[in-house]
Amino acid sequence: MTITLAVTEVSKASFITILIKNQADLSHEMLQPYQKILSQKLEDKDNGITIFYEADRIIAVVALKVNTHIETGIVHEEARVRGGNICKRINYEKSAHAVVVRGSDSVSKGELLAFTEGIALANYQFLKYKSDKKQNALTNVALMDAEISPAEIDELNNIITANQIARDLGNEPVVSLNAVDLGDFIVKMSHEIGFKADILNKSQIEALRMGGLLGVNAGSSVPPTFSILEYKPDNAKNVKPLIFVGKGVTYDTGGYSIKTGPGMPGMKMDMSGAAAVVGTFYAIVKNKLPVYCIGLIPATDNRINSNALVPDDIITMHSGTTVEVLNTDAEGRLILGDALSYAKKFQPELVIDLATLTGAAAAITGALGGALMGTDTKYRPTLMACGNETYERLWEIPYWREYADMLKSDIADLKNIGGAVGGSATAGKFLEHFTDYPWLHLDIAGPAILKDDEPYKLKGASGVGVRLLYAFTKKFAELN
Ligand code: BES
Ligand code: ZN
Ligand code: ZN
Repeated sequence: MTITLAVTEVSKASFITILIKNQADLSHEMLQPYQKILSQKLEDKDNGITIFYEADRIIAVVALKVNTHIETGIVHEEARVRGGNICKRINYEKSAHAVVVRGSDSVSKGELLAFTEGIALANYQFLKYKSDKKQNALTNVALMDAEISPAEIDELNNIITANQIARDLGNEPVVSLNAVDLGDFIVKMSHEIGFKADILNKSQIEALRMGGLLGVNAGSSVPPTFSILEYKPDNAKNVKPLIFVGKGVTYDTGGYSIKTGPGMPGMKMDMSGAAAVVGTFYAIVKNKLPVYCIGLIPATDNRINSNALVPDDIITMHSGTTVEVLNTDAEGRLILGDALSYAKKFQPELVIDLATLTGAAAAITGALGGALMGTDTKYRPTLMACGNETYERLWEIPYWREYADMLKSDIADLKNIGGAVGGSATAGKFLEHFTDYPWLHLDIAGPAILKDDEPYKLKGASGVGVRLLYAFTKKFAELN
């Protein structure tokens, strides 16, 4: 689905959406015949959608909530949700072309863009494996608005595509997206949009002594990959790079500490952190943000064969740290530890990692947001503010230094699991061991994998992180 700017297309469109907020907005010329009904309907704040069938077109009037006292993040989210609802209606009416207009200036430009973003995000479908592809009717949304520029439309389209890339990657099963396939995908994308991609193969990973990535990969018949993405535009505002690291476990069976019953389905999405990094790169490069960025993606599946790690094994990480593996299902931190120590060589301004790391984080946040921890304090408020604005929210969890003590091993430098409490924080402390730079860790186990459809967030992989990190990178450019 594409978003366009339209000045004259309104007569052609079969579905016209008019955004309103209050009685004054009813004076819009297209609403004249319906003023009386609408003024009654305006009180109906729950649904907010009123449909009028005309001879050759449908007029949908969407009343956005009047919420002067709440923060803009929530106002925009309300608009996004309404956009998701209207998307369903457009498809139900089998309309291919929709137009969106503002009833008046009482609807802000931000609300209009968020509403449109909600439509586009809700129109996503993963149909690759369906014989009967019931494709959504909607293919184009045109905004009729004098204040919106073509550049803003391009930017929004690129963000939507970036989110879709991350969702497609997450929804793809491991049988067709293993670590090598993921590397191939990144190379292809780098050629298409223009950034540098270097995919390290198993022997290069061995030469780097990435014992965490190799250890997790030992049980797999597919070799690991370590993808290095680089975007360094001439006009970059930063000298030291902004680095994104994504957990790329293409399938997590748990290994010999095997997941049981309902714990395993969905683990094709254990590379959602990696997917977010790839999607974010797409948005940054396509929108030409003036930021020097690096992406690091350690990738492997976590499976079983006679070479697979077993609990009690001790491995030596890229940094030289020895780790007693007491649970092979705590594999994400092993591959990320290697990526984080590898990141040191770039002397980064900031490293942000994203990982579906712990069920404990999901138990805290649910699908509503990610768990945030780390050592950086300079950029943390900006990242959290971007979370509120994009509604890919973050919340800081207790991350006291004593959590690190829970990782002490009797016979190695570290063990890979903590105690009975603070499962997300001990995982975070494990990662922190491999950093010597400002670093933030986003445990996205909750919001990455959605169990139910919501108005614009659909069941399956959410692509969480892309809209957040794009917004953050834009702000990062301003701060540098
Ligand atoms: N990939 C899982 C975490 C996860 C669980 C993500 C549910 C999404 C939904 C991770 O590798 C894992 O298995 N973590 C273990 C760690 C434990 C063994 C210390 C967990 O959370 O149980
Ligand atoms: Zn696991
Ligand atoms: Zn995992």
